[in-house]
Amino acid sequence: MKGIVLAGGAGTRLYPLTIAVSKQLLPVYDKPMIYYPISVLMLAGIRQILIITTPEDQDSFKKLLGDGTALGCEFQYEIQAAPNGLAEAFIIGEKFIGDDKVALVLGDNIFYGNGLSKLLQSKTSIDGGAIFAYPVRDPERFGVVTFDENNKATSIEEKPESPQSNYAVPGLYFYDNDVVEIAKSITPSARGEKEITAINQVYLSQGRLEVVVMSRGMSWFDTGTVDALDDATEFIRVLQRNQSTMISCLEEIAYKMSWITYDMLKGSAVRYGKGSYATYINTL
Ligand code: G1P
Repeated sequence: MKGIVLAGGAGTRLYPLTIAVSKQLLPVYDKPMIYYPISVLMLAGIRQILIITTPEDQDSFKKLLGDGTALGCEFQYEIQAAPNGLAEAFIIGEKFIGDDKVALVLGDNIFYGNGLSKLLQSKTSIDGGAIFAYPVRDPERFGVVTFDENNKATSIEEKPESPQSNYAVPGLYFYDNDVVEIAKSITPSARGEKEITAINQVYLSQGRLEVVVMSRGMSWFDTGTVDALDDATEFIRVLQRNQSTMISCLEEIAYKMSWITYDMLKGSAVRYGKGSYATYINTL
């Protein structure tokens, strides 16, 4: 399975923070936001990753992440010229995806929790689509999924005015190769975007969509608003300080996955200077 991180968009809800800087490069406590979604793909066991950015931000992401060799991964880059919707990622990434299955994670989504790696790894051989559902206080901000009494998904709506449930769909999606053709076939919504929700509706109507409710031990943050960003920062700060471990240290994950050697791990600390990230790598 291949992976895509979609890190486009104008981030207007975070202005003035994102007038000059890409949203996905903003700090979430001690590391750039995009480290978190990349860690999710890596924990799923995905090493070939396409990073889609706006044209003006691509160089900054390349400077930060390079070609992935230092992490035992392969990073490629593509551009989303205009905010035409999440589903466009599969059209932009068509060549990269080739004949493989693909996972998409949004560049501003953070996941953390017990059993996350296992859950992710269980979806990488999906036939159809697999998405998640997470209970939230403000479902109208998200894709919303409803269930019948047997916990089978019955509908998915994008940002409904009167949500029929409080289950939001987090920005993490696993699909088989059909997703490329489905993405091409859907028409843009009223807001002019090819919606990921429309893709999920197609899989749902075919009876090929698995919707997994994330357990309460799992934490998910969409960092698209100032308060949500601040919440995520606070969460990461408190957890890391309490547990003396780092969340989404990419080099640690690569090492634990046996994708880089001990010497590569040690060497990687040098790049991070004298800060807490380097100190953490040196403690591993
Ligand atoms: C997007 C999707 C939405 C999903 C959300 C998760 O919303 O359209 O279905 O629930 O990501 O973060 P957007 O970021 O475009 O507002």
